[in-house]
Amino acid sequence: MKFFLDTANIEQIKEINDLGQLDGVTTNPTLIAREKAGFRQRIEEICAVVKGPVSAEVVALDYEGMMKEAREVASWAENVVVKIPMTPAGMKATKALAQEGISVNATLIFSLPQALIAAKAGAAFISPFIGRIDDIGQDGMELVADCVSMVDNFMFDSEIIAASIRGLPHVIESIRCRAHIATVPYSTLMSLFKHPLTDKGIDSFMKDWNSANLGKII
Ligand code: G3P
Repeated sequence: MKFFLDTANIEQIKEINDLGQLDGVTTNPTLIAREKAGFRQRIEEICAVVKGPVSAEVVALDYEGMMKEAREVASWAENVVVKIPMTPAGMKATKALAQEGISVNATLIFSLPQALIAAKAGAAFISPFIGRIDDIGQDGMELVADCVSMVDNFMFDSEIIAASIRGLPHVIESIRCRAHIATVPYSTLMSLFKHPLTDKGIDSFMKDWNSANLGKII
């Protein structure tokens, strides 16, 4: 399973990239607005750091507007993926863009039929929003698992991105249900390295080494 970082914060992106764990980045209008940087400038900055797919979302809601924005955004860097919301106009645009060779991440997916429509439209990535589904008392992970089975069963090329991840349990379940990608906030990604027994083990190894006066290795 690949890790994408769900942020437009360039410092966080550089830090995770330096750790060798960054397979891509997803942004959305909210994450871009939070950074108070220009949209194009920030996407170009991210693409200069990250070699994998970088999702940048259109804000037009009509087909023609989406097509214009998508072509523009896709021209900013080779690895830009255009993020398009699940609407009839959005899926029409997804199909046309896929035919032009522009990769689309179908976003705001909350049901299995929506995911099927996105796959049939030719979306390279499909993003079910786990946390927001959990927020309304339903099971976000069940949708991710169903989406993974759906693309496998019908042999679509689309990759499922477990999105709107709120913490470690969502990541563990995403691994278990063979999501192709999990897009995670910075704090969640950093938490994946940690376990209290790892910290405890390092402490006791260091204590034993030092009390035996073994000195430095080099
Ligand atoms: O990847 C989708 C994400 O940006 C939405 O997450 O936490 O706003 O539901 P959240």
